[in-house]
Amino acid sequence: MALHTTNPTKTASWSKLQAHYNQLQAVTMLDLFQADAARTAQFNLKWNDFLLDYSKNRINQETIELLLELANEVGLKTAIADYFDGALINQTENRAVLHTALRAKETAVIHVDGINVVPEIYEVKAKIKAFTNEITLGERKGYTGKPFTDIVNIGIGGSDLGPAMAVEALQFYKNHLKVHFVSNVDGDHVHEIIKKLNPETTLFVIVSKTFTTQETLTNSETIRKWFLQTATQADVAHHFVAVSTNMQKVTEFGINPDNVFPMWDWVGGRFSLWSAVGLSISLAVGFENYDALLSGANEMDDHFKTTPFDQNIPVILALLSVWYNNFFGAESEALIPYTQYLQKLAPYLQQGTMESNGKSVGRDGKPVDYQTGTIIWGEPGTNSQHAFFQLIHQGTKVIPADFIGFVKPLYGDEDHHDKLMSNFFAQTEALMHGKSEAQVQAEFDKQGLPADKAAFLLPFKVFAGNKPTNTILIEQLTPKSLGSLIAMYEHKIFVQGIIWNIFSFDQWGVELGKQLANSILEEINSKTIQNHDSSTSFLLNHFLTNK
Ligand code: F6P
Repeated sequence: MALHTTNPTKTASWSKLQAHYNQLQAVTMLDLFQADAARTAQFNLKWNDFLLDYSKNRINQETIELLLELANEVGLKTAIADYFDGALINQTENRAVLHTALRAKETAVIHVDGINVVPEIYEVKAKIKAFTNEITLGERKGYTGKPFTDIVNIGIGGSDLGPAMAVEALQFYKNHLKVHFVSNVDGDHVHEIIKKLNPETTLFVIVSKTFTTQETLTNSETIRKWFLQTATQADVAHHFVAVSTNMQKVTEFGINPDNVFPMWDWVGGRFSLWSAVGLSISLAVGFENYDALLSGANEMDDHFKTTPFDQNIPVILALLSVWYNNFFGAESEALIPYTQYLQKLAPYLQQGTMESNGKSVGRDGKPVDYQTGTIIWGEPGTNSQHAFFQLIHQGTKVIPADFIGFVKPLYGDEDHHDKLMSNFFAQTEALMHGKSEAQVQAEFDKQGLPADKAAFLLPFKVFAGNKPTNTILIEQLTPKSLGSLIAMYEHKIFVQGIIWNIFSFDQWGVELGKQLANSILEEINSKTIQNHDSSTSFLLNHFLTNK
């Protein structure tokens, strides 16, 4: 069934939200906390080992009620049911969107074209499990009889970012295998990785849904050439495996069909780490941990599917994001995990969020006349505090930020963890409270600063405060909690797309650059520059003359 089309700005709730915004914009969060000391009790959600405190936002009860009204007016409930039931909601590609099926329980029944896909999913999972065990236990060996020591994931976009992020995030749970990622078509990237490898003990996992992606094929060919300097063509079948929907191209590459892990066109690249695209995760941390990641995501799916919207974490996060994006004019959102393990979360969610919701045409085929996709960026705290926090604290832009922290560290180093978490709590407090002129002046008085110096410095030392944050506090970083966290953001993206009336599951915007790059490559190869604008011709000529 097609998704319902509603221009959100034409709904009754949108007009009410606009009027409400006009009233609330002059009210600070400190005013709201002063008016209602019990505010946090009203604006927090507890679920499994997650705690979301969203009280440090520029909202009151009416804001939430109006945003919930908006969710109802755009038909979010039906859209969620369609999403989980495998309706063809990726309408521009005529596909279902069923990454949630990949982490469903074995007893679930989910139909695509009238066929229950769950048994097929579990067959592939069994294959991932058996393969992981053979490699990690050293039962499957390289062409000289030695066990594998290194894994190289060759893929880009969703075929790289998810596995790379999860392997980094789950480093604590890692086994002896060294896992590398090659993505960029930049030859220096692949050559830097190759120089660390021994062909006798390296397994290559080529991940490409289409098996036509220039970067992945070029890197795979370069690696195969390097491999064949010491091994034979027949050895390729033992050292190269693939994850793809394109069986023909994979076998043409020389991969043994037994070593192909299938995926399906109803899994979008940026949501594919739950499929065999996650093979390198399973190899890195073992199948049980990989499966726990999936079950964490499945639990978040159940929460999202069944919980009333006012208690529903992804729904609340999405509504808050719409509130800032469309009423406060916030263009970006920061994502600040207080763990070094999640250093690749922001780049991963950049694809998830910006490839999904970076759209300017509505589901009715007409240009939208309101803002859609937010810009996502971020780095772990405390490093980011010493990098870009200045702009969040004292810059001119509204940047809502998610602070993600964990109650327990993994190595049990309480000294470090208490310092880390004191920063975590201090920052959201500082962002909300700011520092008033009176507070700054009192500090100057205490230091005995001369009046002229104090008068000069005062405006620079004031913090306006009133900067919104969400605090997501999780018990511990485990494969399961990581799965829930990723799924939480996936569903937030879905809700935003439904409200903004756009198609979140295609990515036509990445095609034009690819097309032009192909024709420019021909021009570079033939050293004949065709007609371009004067800037592009000038640059190409400079490149060809100087290369
Ligand atoms: O460039 C966009 C994209 O299509 C992504 O959506 C996808 O994750 C990536 O390219 C890689 O595609 P493939 O897995 O087919 O190589």
